[in-house]
Amino acid sequence: MTAPIPFQPDIPQSDRLELGVCYYPEQWPREKWEDDARRMKELGLAWVRIGEFAWAHMEPRPGEMHWQWLDEAIDVLGRAGLKVILGTPTAAPPKWLVDLHPDILPVGENGVVRKFGARRHYCFSSRSYAREAARIVEAMAARYGAHPFVHAWQTDNEYGDHDTIYSYSKEAERAFRLWLADRYGSIEALNAAWGTNFWSMRYGTFDEIDLPNNLVEEPSPTHLVDFIRFSSDQVKNFNRMQVDILRRHVQGRPVTHNFMANNFDFDHYEVGDDIDIASWDVYPMGGLINGRLSEVDKERYLRTGDPDQTAFYHDLYRAVGRGRVWVMEQQPGPVNWASHNQAPADGMVRLWTWLAYAHGVDMVSYFRWRQIHSAQEQFHAALLLPNSEPDQGHLEVAQVIAEIDRLPKGERRDTAKVALVVDYPSRWASRALPQGRSYQATAIALDWYAALSRLGIDVDIVGQHSDLDAYALVLAPDLLIADAAFVARLKRSKAKALLGPRSGSKTAEMHIPATLPPGPLADLIDLQVTRVESLPEFHNETVLYGNEMHAARVWRETIRSPESVLARFSGDYRDGAPALVGNDKARYLAAGAQGDFLMKVIGDALDWAGVARLPDLGDLRLARRGALRFAFNYGKGPAEVPAGPDAVFHVGGRMLAPVDVAVWTE
Ligand code: GAL
Repeated sequence: MTAPIPFQPDIPQSDRLELGVCYYPEQWPREKWEDDARRMKELGLAWVRIGEFAWAHMEPRPGEMHWQWLDEAIDVLGRAGLKVILGTPTAAPPKWLVDLHPDILPVGENGVVRKFGARRHYCFSSRSYAREAARIVEAMAARYGAHPFVHAWQTDNEYGDHDTIYSYSKEAERAFRLWLADRYGSIEALNAAWGTNFWSMRYGTFDEIDLPNNLVEEPSPTHLVDFIRFSSDQVKNFNRMQVDILRRHVQGRPVTHNFMANNFDFDHYEVGDDIDIASWDVYPMGGLINGRLSEVDKERYLRTGDPDQTAFYHDLYRAVGRGRVWVMEQQPGPVNWASHNQAPADGMVRLWTWLAYAHGVDMVSYFRWRQIHSAQEQFHAALLLPNSEPDQGHLEVAQVIAEIDRLPKGERRDTAKVALVVDYPSRWASRALPQGRSYQATAIALDWYAALSRLGIDVDIVGQHSDLDAYALVLAPDLLIADAAFVARLKRSKAKALLGPRSGSKTAEMHIPATLPPGPLADLIDLQVTRVESLPEFHNETVLYGNEMHAARVWRETIRSPESVLARFSGDYRDGAPALVGNDKARYLAAGAQGDFLMKVIGDALDWAGVARLPDLGDLRLARRGALRFAFNYGKGPAEVPAGPDAVFHVGGRMLAPVDVAVWTE
């Protein structure tokens, strides 16, 4: 271990963007470490994350701890002037451990045990794993918690990666029964909640209850959503166990976890409450391929990624981190894991880095330092090629580092005027009862966010627990389960509300509200939903809005309401029925909206709420961080940024080339 150097708590909220990299000393010969550390520092990196998959190196055999290599690695990196983020290694339990305790292995939905040989092969309900994970975290924290070169900790790695939140093991079954007994108190209460009078599904005791996999037909939606809630609690408890251990040793150093895009398998706000900074892993190329856009738009944005998806998740994780967000892994070039792995345009690594900063991220760390020549990720680009030559990402990081000092320091993201509600239980509700395969809540929320972005609006993502007082407009694209406390706060706030179809359509027990949807939201706007239908992909309904015809897709509702009708369905089915109704406080949209229709609904809502907007920005995106104004060009041609006449440009200028960034103050 190194000679003690007093620790200066350094939780950057630094006054400027800081950069880092993910590094795996255990994967490279010892002779390379010094040179790697020197080159990281020379490049201008401040942070390096290590350790998160190295359990088998820390403890190659039961109880036989090998710390010396890690002591040395931390020492080499720290002495070079890098701040170490140390990951707990629980995402990759070693072979000997799962052989000793086979109940660690998770069981897939098909009932088959998921075996050793990759990573994340553990069940969150395994009691042996909880014990073993606590043991390794305690050992690491005791050794490195107060280490002068270790400045932050990461728990585990990407909870949920490779579909690993839900395990259908005996351990999960046992824990689920206990969880249910605790939630319901009596089996009769469970029977009532799950609606088990239907199809003779009644249970006599909690011990009779199975996990909701391998059934003949779908389970009761309450059974399924309870299993998701339970699984979410298991993740929260597992993470909290690690955080509690770390806090006893780390003397105020921040603890983070690296979340992923597009994962709603557990309640991220709840895990976020237990950590100091939320971080997430940014892979926009795979995000595009797996994402919501049409094939035409995927072609258009092939090498830039979806212009809104990455920004959306920055804003979401800023909420999860209660204002504090990092990027722990930034894609540096093509990756290996999507169905197709195209290269980003040259310049995108720089663009994504500035995009992160614009959305409130304080630290961006690239995945990874050097491309590896063996194992699963050998196609994954890095800052260096496998032979250690700089790759494109390295050049772009150097460019960002040269630009950082040109910006005024200390700017922080302000609270936005517009909030968009993302609620995890509501996502679980539409997963349990989709009612139509085109109803994809994640895509819907992203469509709404994209419409706001195209109108130049900065957005805060909020949960039902969030403070709403600062907002002029709150949008709820898919709030299926609205809780009464949230509705009351929204009602008291000065914000106006735009509610999407299905809002308030389920109780927490996954029932239809006794007063019909939108349940408690009827406190904001007087209406009842009397019929819902999902629409096949080949069919649009027509909506007459103002004097324009628009296409409604995916979803249509019949509503009964004394409120003003702002748009009506037009056509051979229930011609003239209301499609958008409103009063002074809230508007309710009874149709699935995309494209021009959505832009019109959202644009009008902004005007109604008194939020200034810009004309459609096309492929340009804007963001503000304090006094800093940012523009990003995702298009294929040059674009002019909407800067005032007195704008002072710190990066770029008034005309932006494709894939370029401008930063200015005015
Ligand atoms: C992330 C993961 C990393 C690495 C990366 C590849 O999901 O956290 O360990 O596998 O993907 O893109």
